[in-house]
Amino acid sequence: MEEQAIILTHEPSTEIARLVSEATPDLVFLLTDETTERLCRPLLADCDALCDAVSIVIGATDVHKNLDTLADVWRQLGTGGGSRHSLMVCLGGGMVTDLGGFAASTFKRGIRYINVPTTLLAMVDAAVGGKTGINFNGLKNEIGVFRKSVAVVIDSRFLRTLDAPNLCSGYAEMIKHGLISHEAHWAELLRFDLSQPDYAELQRLVAQSIGVKEHIVEVDPLEHGIRKALNVGHTVGHAFESLALAESRPVLHGYAVAWGMVSELYLSCTKVGFPKDKMRQTVDYIRTHYGTFVFDCDHYERLYDYMTHDKKNVGGIVNFTLLADIGDIRLDQTATKEEIFAMLDFFRETMN
Ligand code: GLY
Repeated sequence: MEEQAIILTHEPSTEIARLVSEATPDLVFLLTDETTERLCRPLLADCDALCDAVSIVIGATDVHKNLDTLADVWRQLGTGGGSRHSLMVCLGGGMVTDLGGFAASTFKRGIRYINVPTTLLAMVDAAVGGKTGINFNGLKNEIGVFRKSVAVVIDSRFLRTLDAPNLCSGYAEMIKHGLISHEAHWAELLRFDLSQPDYAELQRLVAQSIGVKEHIVEVDPLEHGIRKALNVGHTVGHAFESLALAESRPVLHGYAVAWGMVSELYLSCTKVGFPKDKMRQTVDYIRTHYGTFVFDCDHYERLYDYMTHDKKNVGGIVNFTLLADIGDIRLDQTATKEEIFAMLDFFRETMN
């Protein structure tokens, strides 16, 4: 897959201008959603390269990450005069970078795009690594392609536009990066006070976190092997997310992943020997900052059903990425229904 430059900067306008001038596109499109148009675009007001950009604004939040919005973006690229030599700048959270990346990757068989993530989740995860897509048929990210943006321009000052739950949501993916990398990084992540964030320290941790993901994606861009490490917490997390959505009590993705990590660390302890003290420390941090997900044993069958339908499975067998220790990754693990139910018991006993 093509290279993707990761640019950490406090001069995003200058960096975007440089990237646009290097790309020499015939036309620049700027994709935002209603929230980032209002809160984040003003931070790029001094960017000459975006002055003449054709603006496309879509609805905010995941409910708009669908075929209708995608078709609308394709249409506006067409009516706005887009050609194969055009360039799109995606300014927003994971919904904008995922959908925008997919629109750009498919319009005229693919135009170049630049991601400017504005949420913590998008900075450390969604905008990096070339996964693009939309939700379809009730399933998250069901349709999409792997195709990297030309660059990801990250200015941590955008984080100040985020509310506390969205900051916590992105931080869950950073905890995941700590768990799959090395002990020192994991330990410093658990020392960070999420309720009173020190933004300078957060910026340093974000840079390290992106490094963890970048390294993995470089080795395995198409998720044939080690990229599955990035799925820690996601098998159970997606099941919690789906149940919450079906019961009209949606939760932010990172919260579901945090709760998923609690569950999958329990499985890691029981099945591959993850140290109990490190599980306890991680679980305590998550309980303190993310609270819990409420469900009872009547939900177990349904949660199991969601897990068996996860797109990472092969032949309907539930696939987990587990850890034998911090950074000691065990891919393609599975568990019986009884083990999964015991894991759900553990979650309720420990988190409630
Ligand atoms: N969000 C996980 C990945 O990019 O592979």
